[in-house]
Amino acid sequence: MFDTFAGKDRIDMMLRRPRRNRKNEVVRSQTRETKLSVDNLIYPLFVVDGQNHKSEVKSLPGQFRLSLDHLLREVEECMALGVNCFDLFPAVDESLKDQMGTYSYSSKNFYLKYIQAIKNRFPEALIMTDVAMDPYSSDGHDGVVRNGKIVNDETLEVLAKMSVAQAEAGADIIGPSDMMDGRVEFIREALDTAGHTDVSIMSYTAKYASAYYGPFRDALDSAPKFGDKKTYQMDPANKREALVEAELDYLEGADYMMVKPALCYLDVIHMLKEEYPIPIAAYNVSGEYAMLKAASQNGWLDYDRAMSEMLLSIKRAGADVILTYAAKEYALLCAKSAH
Ligand code: PBG
Repeated sequence: MFDTFAGKDRIDMMLRRPRRNRKNEVVRSQTRETKLSVDNLIYPLFVVDGQNHKSEVKSLPGQFRLSLDHLLREVEECMALGVNCFDLFPAVDESLKDQMGTYSYSSKNFYLKYIQAIKNRFPEALIMTDVAMDPYSSDGHDGVVRNGKIVNDETLEVLAKMSVAQAEAGADIIGPSDMMDGRVEFIREALDTAGHTDVSIMSYTAKYASAYYGPFRDALDSAPKFGDKKTYQMDPANKREALVEAELDYLEGADYMMVKPALCYLDVIHMLKEEYPIPIAAYNVSGEYAMLKAASQNGWLDYDRAMSEMLLSIKRAGADVILTYAAKEYALLCAKSAH
């Protein structure tokens, strides 16, 4: 393709000068290949039972555990900035956790009441929920533990009950983050049987056993009480295995496929985007956000620019949708630059 240049004196006649397409902002924005919009973002929010509670997560500066009053205010502010989709994560009191995670689908669960309250107040907000046992499990694992092992099929029953309870409360998108085998189909059938055929599933398709979830586990106090999550979350060394997970999720009826974390797995995002005709999501996880915050607090890099570049790179790799703790900050930045 570059043969036309062969033999030319490249000093006298540089036919192709890529800098011409960078000469000013109008040209640059006209020819920009990737554009990131606030529409692409989902904002994860941590919620806690109670009133007038807003506590910052130490390892996630700028992110808070919110009681309902603060949550509604936050949602309202975000929607005014164009952030319309929220993924909620509950911080559950230790006394309510048990081996089977029963509080997750109990009618007393504050998380379910919060979903209902947001949908009542802001029917046009898109609410995504997390499906996994870890915030509710006394073992801190995403599945049922028997003799020190995480058992798959028994967990599916709990996940299905949790999903139906969340759909009943008004959730628009169910996000199974547990990595049990067969859960998308199991949840889909449970939702459909309960009449929730319109409720979507965003499957955590390729969720890796990552060190980057650390700050999130601080936020929810949900770290595993023993061992690690390597028997269900994927090995960071594996790329082709993501195709096995993706094929299953696709056949089982997932509406979106997610890769998580995002930054260390851009190749996986790109691969799934090439291979599958459904929207690809990427979770820009807590550790990725915390790294930028820490560096910028030390004056080592410009937060706004580094954060924008990070989100752009995830989109460029192929993500249609990005879950990020920077969603509101990015929307604020867009609002500022529009003036
Ligand atoms: C748990 C869950 C985790 C995250 C989302 N859902 C942590 C884990 O698997 O231990 C991580 C999100 C983040 O780090 O921002 N099912």
